[in-house]
Amino acid sequence: MTGDGKGTRPGSGHAPDAYGNTFGAVYDDWYPLEFAHGAEAVEALARYAGRAEALELGVGTGRIAIPLARRGVRVHGVDISPVMLERLRAKPGGHLVRTVLADMADPGACDLGRRFPLVYSVFNSLFCIPAQGRQAASLTVAARHLAPGGRLVVDHQMPADVAPGISVRHFHATDDQIRFSLVDCDPVTQVMKRRTVAVTDDGVTSYSSVIRYVWPAELDLMAAAAGLVLTARRADWAGTPMRPGSPGCVSVYRHRTHEGDPAG
Ligand SMILES: C[S@@+](CC[C@H](N)C(=O)[O-])C[C@H]1O[C@@H](n2cnc3c(N)ncnc32)[C@H](O)[C@@H]1O
Repeated sequence: MTGDGKGTRPGSGHAPDAYGNTFGAVYDDWYPLEFAHGAEAVEALARYAGRAEALELGVGTGRIAIPLARRGVRVHGVDISPVMLERLRAKPGGHLVRTVLADMADPGACDLGRRFPLVYSVFNSLFCIPAQGRQAASLTVAARHLAPGGRLVVDHQMPADVAPGISVRHFHATDDQIRFSLVDCDPVTQVMKRRTVAVTDDGVTSYSSVIRYVWPAELDLMAAAAGLVLTARRADWAGTPMRPGSPGCVSVYRHRTHEGDPAG
């Protein structure tokens, strides 16, 4: 059985909305708010937003957006996947998030017609756009939606295990499920083709996905091309300084041409 229901193989040509179609049904079970310090992300983003308005690019099922909206922030969320957005809207508090079905990597199509003091993209949403040019275009979309003095916050894992070839990783075991991923890494393109296998009493389900990892220095170049400058970089939402070996990266950018921005 395949999770995407299309019998796709890693790298066999994924549509831009493939991630949501593939993982929509299991996303909230696999990635609750507690996963990857989501609650800390909400706290930090709430501080940045200051009860104003925020735009999440790659909002998914609202894992971060809904609790942020409950904190009084008026959150708008863009996602390319109707499956993910449908799940968001069906959740308690889903009505608090204004959703937009759009491709955040298409500056011609993703235009909400307004600007926000906070734009954010978290939990590796950038990596879910598996082509460098489109990743850079999503930074352009983010920059265009930033209000004067506003900040863009981008959160992603630091790339790890990027040796060429296939490896087995992401082991996860609970009482009712064992999961792991076969990952085929191409360090030249920075593309990882992944086949995630979930074993339960009901059988074995396989989910294919393709991501492209980005290094912080590359992210800064993409941001610079979009007119943005880095104002802060930390290893996590708690503000741990970035060091070699840090597992995560939270970067804060502002628009180069916006005057009078406080740093950080
Ligand atoms: C790893 S999930 C993260 C979701 C959410 N930010 C969270 O913290 O749970 C990545 C999300 O990005 C969305 N996505 C991928 N490519 C996209 C694109 N080109 N435009 C808009 N959303 C996209 C996927 O559909 C998915 O919902």
